[in-house]
Amino acid sequence: MRPEPHDGAAPRFSPLGALAQLNPFTWATGLFLRGVAELKIPDELARGPRTSDQVADAVGADRASMARFLRACVVHGAAQRETDGRYTLTDLGQLLRSDIPSLRGFVIAVNGPGMVRPWERLAEAVRTGRSATNDVWGVDIHEYYAQHPEEALAYAESCDVLTIEAAELLSRAYDFARFQRIVDVGGSRGVLLTRVLKETPQAGGVLFELPTVVELARTALAEHQLRERIELTAGDFLAEVPTGGDLYLVKNVISDLADADAATLLANCLKAAVPDSRLLLVDWVLQPAPSFVDATDIDCLVLTGGKARTPEEYEHLLSGAGYTNISDVPLPGFEAAPMAVIEATRP
Ligand SMILES: C[S@@+](CC[C@H](N)C(=O)[O-])C[C@H]1O[C@@H](n2cnc3c(N)ncnc32)[C@H](O)[C@@H]1O
Repeated sequence: MRPEPHDGAAPRFSPLGALAQLNPFTWATGLFLRGVAELKIPDELARGPRTSDQVADAVGADRASMARFLRACVVHGAAQRETDGRYTLTDLGQLLRSDIPSLRGFVIAVNGPGMVRPWERLAEAVRTGRSATNDVWGVDIHEYYAQHPEEALAYAESCDVLTIEAAELLSRAYDFARFQRIVDVGGSRGVLLTRVLKETPQAGGVLFELPTVVELARTALAEHQLRERIELTAGDFLAEVPTGGDLYLVKNVISDLADADAATLLANCLKAAVPDSRLLLVDWVLQPAPSFVDATDIDCLVLTGGKARTPEEYEHLLSGAGYTNISDVPLPGFEAAPMAVIEATRP
């Protein structure tokens, strides 16, 4: 940029002044929050106001850098500085606690290298319409997680927490009593399946996942009271899914897939299911006006090559795979959620 001619008047544009308006570190807020979460600073501040030295000692960090970091955390909204100089937790900081259900795993996963490095190639993904993950890592995001267990755990935690509400509302509103064998396809660590099985004492469940995620589920469910009713099955849903189910749950899986793979997965479910069985699809739905889902949609583009869809697009995929009686499932309390809940019948 060429400097403006110096005519004695104050410059019209003040880059230093603009810094306060357009915080150029906005992109780094996620990384800040990941650091806050990894250091477990919110757990410490949740106990009450703390000096920076107290926080540093509690989390095992260098006192001088913690003093600097906490001041910056105020700028990024994760902590607040009281008049006596001690720090307290903001509402945003609460979301990063490890000792209560929170978005901590989500924040760590989406700001971890597995996702951030592909995001560095956002412009390329938009230019080409292709996911950047394979270019960066040489494998897809799920294989990356198979190779990076810590990030995989944070990712699984984020899937768990984002499933709690849908699982609760579905288990209350949907008639599960008619099913005997419920297969959760790509069911992560079983939050949805275990909630559903509580409502269906007659049914057995199958949690179908990639091999490394099955092992995460095995650990997470080891002490679960419903463990004996759950088969843990490893495989690739693009090859085949467990047979004989009369209900297939497919939650937040289709949006990770491009149309051809989504069609393959649904065809595999249809082939595996017993006649007159049901498939319940729960997934991100595009709203008429741009919303938070559009940001998720770009996440799908960059990371997996999938996409969020309109209800009509989900229905089109289901009917294309051979499903009939496709209808929205009303979930009282879930109306404002940006998720489609669609039931389909395998004829
Ligand atoms: C976005 S997560 C959704 C998890 C869970 N259904 C939920 O709603 O929380 C997608 C899941 O699909 C699993 N997955 C991805 N590709 C798969 C494949 N080829 N075969 C089986 N599972 C797969 C992933 O391991 C991941 O847990």
